[in-house]
Amino acid sequence: MPMRIDPSILAADFANLEAELARIGTADLVHVDVMDNHFVPNLTLGLPVVESLQKVSALPLDLHLMITDADRWAPVYAETGAYSVTFHAEAATDVVATARRLRQIGARAGLAVKPGTDIEPYLQLLPEFDMLLVMTVEPGFGGQSFMEDTMPKLRRASEAVVKSGLDVWLQVDGGISEKTIEIAAEAGANTFVAGSSVFGAENAAAQITLLRDLASR
Ligand code: DX5
Ligand code: ZN
Repeated sequence: MPMRIDPSILAADFANLEAELARIGTADLVHVDVMDNHFVPNLTLGLPVVESLQKVSALPLDLHLMITDADRWAPVYAETGAYSVTFHAEAATDVVATARRLRQIGARAGLAVKPGTDIEPYLQLLPEFDMLLVMTVEPGFGGQSFMEDTMPKLRRASEAVVKSGLDVWLQVDGGISEKTIEIAAEAGANTFVAGSSVFGAENAAAQITLLRDLASR
């Protein structure tokens, strides 16, 4: 089972994004946090920046939409050519229709749940998704502490994916570092977002390799 490291550019220098991408060449994906100051109490970047990143990134873009009205906006983000688009269950009206739309456009379809949101109702919809994101912090800010109490939910999702026989990726996001990544891997995650622990490292490329090694043990 390959373990994927997905650095979040939320922790990068926003004035030098192309140079920051050059620091993470050993990563599998690039995680891009889109926040609208409605779904979460923070504002980051939107379509113009995603379009520019799409032009210069050698790695596939993994968009994490923390925005309301996901049914309307997720497909618009997929049209940028993004590899993967993840929207929040709490922000969508029809998660299945939105996921199908993403796949039609050619993006992988991801569904995210906040720490307080039950994943059980979505596990019967596994064939509709390419990835489930179990948030390990309250979405909105980088640099928060990993919430270990989300691990039973991750474990439950992992059991459902194994049972289904489907290749649905299980992603964790928030507080992932060399101190926490093994806990999440053990509970079934295979795709790890890491912001501050990667971009805050002196040698980001080496930090990515270290995280992947720890997750693969
Ligand atoms: C938080 C974002 C995360 C964030 C993770 O709402 O979704 O992707 O950038 O940052 P760290 O790894 O610093 O917790
Ligand atoms: Zn994120």
